[in-house]
Amino acid sequence: MSMIRNSLLLAAVSTALSIPAQAGDVEVLHWWTSGGEAKAAAELKSSMQKKGHTWKDFAVAGGGGDAAMTVLKSRVVSGNAPAAAQIKGPSIQEWAREGVLANMDAVAKAEKWDSVLPKVIADGLKYKGNYVAAPVNVHRVNWLWANPEAFKKAGAKLPTTWDEFFVAAEALKKAGITPVAHGGQNWQDFTTFESVALGAGGAEFYRKALVQLDPGSLKSPTMLKVLETFKKVKGYTDKNAPGRDWNLATAMVIKGEAGMQLMGDWAKGEFIAAGKVPGKDFACVAAPGTAKSYTYNVDSFVLFKLKDAANQKAQQDLAVAIMGPEFQEVFNLNKGSIPVRLDMKLDKFDECAKLSAADFGASAKSGSLVPSIAHGMAVPSAVEGAIKDVVSQFWNDDKMTAAAAMDKLAAAAKAK
Ligand code: BGC
Repeated sequence: MSMIRNSLLLAAVSTALSIPAQAGDVEVLHWWTSGGEAKAAAELKSSMQKKGHTWKDFAVAGGGGDAAMTVLKSRVVSGNAPAAAQIKGPSIQEWAREGVLANMDAVAKAEKWDSVLPKVIADGLKYKGNYVAAPVNVHRVNWLWANPEAFKKAGAKLPTTWDEFFVAAEALKKAGITPVAHGGQNWQDFTTFESVALGAGGAEFYRKALVQLDPGSLKSPTMLKVLETFKKVKGYTDKNAPGRDWNLATAMVIKGEAGMQLMGDWAKGEFIAAGKVPGKDFACVAAPGTAKSYTYNVDSFVLFKLKDAANQKAQQDLAVAIMGPEFQEVFNLNKGSIPVRLDMKLDKFDECAKLSAADFGASAKSGSLVPSIAHGMAVPSAVEGAIKDVVSQFWNDDKMTAAAAMDKLAAAAKAK
């Protein structure tokens, strides 16, 4: 049955590919609305306009994409899906199972995606062996961003372990600087939590507890230590953190009002958009204890099945553009991420991006390359939502003990 459907789909795709250039509309759902994100999204728009298509921007503000996903669901349920949407990780398979996604194999074969993508990433973009998503980048999540001027003022040194992190935080506090810029939203809480889990627990623990959801690791002395360390970070955030957007937290580091931020490298897009230079105006170092590990987060787009031939052509052009070397370079220079293609030169990229690329390769070899839970790369969306809620509850409720949070986490991991 599904083979028949796939061949029909393939036939439809090839027909769409062979029709003469025709201008279509391409409506694209994304959540790239901060300064750096918007500059990167503008590159995608202009590459589609160059091909003569009309770009219909469907931007839903809200870092991490939770709001965008809610809006997308209601659009698809009401039979009005956009041409493409920013969807990643296991959600790709969840959407594919609904039978609403277009098959991208024709484009993927013509453009040789299998030979230019890392296998671990390519596998996640396929459903039953067929490509159903096109990747734009690789974001590293386990970063610490710091303001060197603020560190100098405080006489602090960039931390490489969690113990050193708290020493630096204390020094920044004494100097009257907010040690940690944080935005209290559950995906931001979890972004911090997973870096603590990776740094204080190690890659093996991270994978067993948070990716495989192994009950024995979820409830363990290591998890207890991770939760306690995570909660200690909160003591170094300011009272206005609840609800703050991530890019406003980054702005605090840019201005030197705060010393550091734990955030993925979309934060670098903000520093760059503000004209700041890495290694001079800001520092990028791996989150404490995670220099040899890498939490990956790959942004990708799925295409929804459409009826109109011109719009189908525009969709296919979008998939081709996304994976093209030219776009991969200019987009990622703005976005803070690195190209997902393995065959690209990084001459124009800065030291943070070069470190990211080197660490991606090294961690893939050593077995310490892990998917980000906070950014939808690791577990089914229901589990992700449930464990994020527990971690944020623990962060916000000063009466909840780490032991109680650990019990709740283990229960939430069973959410289906
Ligand atoms: C996305 C990034 C985005 C960030 C903040 C992440 O989940 O992968 O592309 O910049 O959220 O909005």
